[in-house]
Amino acid sequence: MQLSNNKVLITGGASGIGLGLTERFINENNTVIIVGRRESVLQEAAAKFPSVITKVCDLASEEDRVALYNWVAENHNDLNVLVNNAGIQNWMGFDDPDFFAKATAEVTTNVLAPMHLTSLFIQLPALKAIMNVTSGLAYVPFSKAPVYSATKAFFHSFTMSSRYLLKAKNIEVIDIIPPALNTDLGGKGLHDGQPPVSLFIDSIFQQLAEGKTELSFGFAEAMTKAGPEDIKNAFNRLNP
Ligand SMILES: NC(=O)c1ccc[n+]([C@@H]2O[C@H](COP(=O)([O-])OP(=O)(O)OC[C@H]3O[C@@H](n4cnc5c(N)ncnc54)[C@H](OP(=O)(O)O)[C@@H]3O)[C@@H](O)[C@H]2O)c1
Repeated sequence: MQLSNNKVLITGGASGIGLGLTERFINENNTVIIVGRRESVLQEAAAKFPSVITKVCDLASEEDRVALYNWVAENHNDLNVLVNNAGIQNWMGFDDPDFFAKATAEVTTNVLAPMHLTSLFIQLPALKAIMNVTSGLAYVPFSKAPVYSATKAFFHSFTMSSRYLLKAKNIEVIDIIPPALNTDLGGKGLHDGQPPVSLFIDSIFQQLAEGKTELSFGFAEAMTKAGPEDIKNAFNRLNP
């Protein structure tokens, strides 16, 4: 995809990896719309990047997803890139009394929401690219986050099929496959000590410039190339 002169909507674009993407897309001369539940966090991002357009939306709500699409269709009909980045992660076991409720929330936010947004946003006449933020855990599960890992395996699979299905519409589908990075995913502190988002963003924009459609880095990149034995070993290292 071209790296400049796009109108890009980034779900979860006000924090973590999404904020890294927002900053980089703005620096590359794109118009960026960011979406999230927390108005205050969207406003903090807008204070840093005054050109950014913000929209409050709870992507776990089907009604909100449809309203977001209608708002874009009416006000930003020239949107040509959708970035499905928003996600949540719960560390839990079967002994968690809220296991099923947390699992449902993860499936809704990480799977149903981007699947629904994809089916809506491909109706935009200008749409040229969809970028899905999956995970290295799509390839090898981290059992402390059992449902999260499974949602990412689903999303990676769906991304591959979408790429094939949307070729006929000339919509490029790009898989962004991060390793663990230092963000607030899963709660503050859980990802401290992981590499900074900025390193990852530099690497994936380099890969984008090279025309790649599966963008990965570090552990995640190793997993995309791993054979069955490597996957088994990685599973044992992640789940000692
Ligand atoms: N950090 C890592 O180690 C890592 C590794 C692999 C993949 N990823 C993936 O990268 C993506 C971004 O995560 P992150 O690490 O940057 O964590 P993060 O800082 O917690 O970002 C998640 C973003 O998603 C938004 N979001 C969550 N639920 C939402 C909802 N129902 N409606 C609208 N927005 C929602 C959040 O905004 P609000 O809370 O304001 O709604 C937040 O901006 C996720 O898909 C994650 O699975 C992260």
